[in-house]
Amino acid sequence: MDEITFSEDASDELVKRVEAVSDKERFVCAMEDDRFVGTAGVFSLHLTVPGGDMPAGGVTWVSVLPTHRRRGIMRELMRRMIDDCHRRGEPIAMLWAAEGAIYQRFGFGIGTFSVNLDAEPKAFGFARDWPIEGRFRLLAAGEGREVVEPVYEAARAQRSGFLSRTPDWWLGILPDAEKDKKGGEAKRLVVYETDAGAEAYAVYKTKPEWGVRGSSHQLIVDEAIGSTPSGTREIWRYLLSVDLVRTVKTWRLPSDHPLLVLAAEPRRLGATMGDGLWIRILDVAAALQGRTYGIDGHGRGQVCFDLRDEFCSRNAGRWSLEVEDGRARVTQVAAEADLALDANDLASLFLGGFSATALAAAGRVVEMRPGGLAAADSLFPTPLKPWCPQEF
Ligand SMILES: CC(C)(COP(=O)(O)OP(=O)(O)OC[C@H]1O[C@@H](n2cnc3c(N)ncnc32)[C@H](O)[C@@H]1OP(=O)(O)O)[C@@H](O)C(=O)NCCC(=O)NCCS
Repeated sequence: MDEITFSEDASDELVKRVEAVSDKERFVCAMEDDRFVGTAGVFSLHLTVPGGDMPAGGVTWVSVLPTHRRRGIMRELMRRMIDDCHRRGEPIAMLWAAEGAIYQRFGFGIGTFSVNLDAEPKAFGFARDWPIEGRFRLLAAGEGREVVEPVYEAARAQRSGFLSRTPDWWLGILPDAEKDKKGGEAKRLVVYETDAGAEAYAVYKTKPEWGVRGSSHQLIVDEAIGSTPSGTREIWRYLLSVDLVRTVKTWRLPSDHPLLVLAAEPRRLGATMGDGLWIRILDVAAALQGRTYGIDGHGRGQVCFDLRDEFCSRNAGRWSLEVEDGRARVTQVAAEADLALDANDLASLFLGGFSATALAAAGRVVEMRPGGLAAADSLFPTPLKPWCPQEF
């Protein structure tokens, strides 16, 4: 079915990989007689939020046959999945959208942006030079999880938006000699290590192309993660200096990724930006009480907001967020609201990537009492933008 709706090959390998990370009882389908006409599922994941981590349902593989589209099948699947996430105690649901317009009606808002690069490494250059302190090591396919996992976990603790990974998730991400050979391209895993241990890694592949002018290979970076600033810098120095490569492509970087300010010629990175992870708040009190507030995580203040939420009407109404030493107490109140906003907007505020003022500038959040935007701005945004490096 997904081959028809997504127009791509669902190889046995892909199916096996998805099965390994799925709870089968969390997959739902619509049937007509004995045929599938719609499917969707939810992965049980944990998402980093400011100051911690919380369970989150990762909605995936939403598809309805073209013969059955626009009859409300997806809406019904979504209803069941969202209600099930809530029943399981997941305060939020999240997804990567094939098309953003599909999910906004269900209260999803942009949680992270994704910067995509189509870089010309030879023209790009670093604005400053620095000595190399460590060394790089290429690992054989099937090796390296124990080396890269601590790097990922350390990076995951530094920004909201990262997802938890079980060993089965890692299997799909790291090179595997059998699985990852597709059209002659194999995934490579390189790590950057200093005397302190591994500080960065990258998973990438190269697409060779030879012409009359020589090589114009493409290097495609699936994931490049550093746990320290120098690790991040070094792994990108490596990726942008592999011989014979003419273009380096990647997806899903945060909009404040260090590489964007390390460049001598930033436009040569060929950066474009799109939506990343979409968030849906399912339980307002549990979600908002599960993160910290204030730029240093020790914020203080209060904001009262009037929330519109048609798809999850239990969330609609007036809420007070009272923050003391970075932690919130969230209650439903009758008091006058400082702000009025939709479920989508609260979702965008949640991971810290947006300020209320930025959403008000877009006409989304409305200030009902003077000082409401400033109060929210002192609590929600984080020093680093949220980053979700992984699609699911
Ligand atoms: C997207 C898809 C799942 C929609 O399924 P569907 O059963 O036709 O959707 P529904 O009939 O339940 O639509 C519910 C609402 O969403 C709207 N909608 C559905 N697909 C939409 C789209 N691609 N863009 C904008 N709005 C869309 C419908 O118009 C309807 O609006 P309404 O509530 O105002 O009447 C289906 O078209 C599909 O499989 N597409 C290809 C695969 C894909 O893109 N999947 C999403 C992966 S993230």
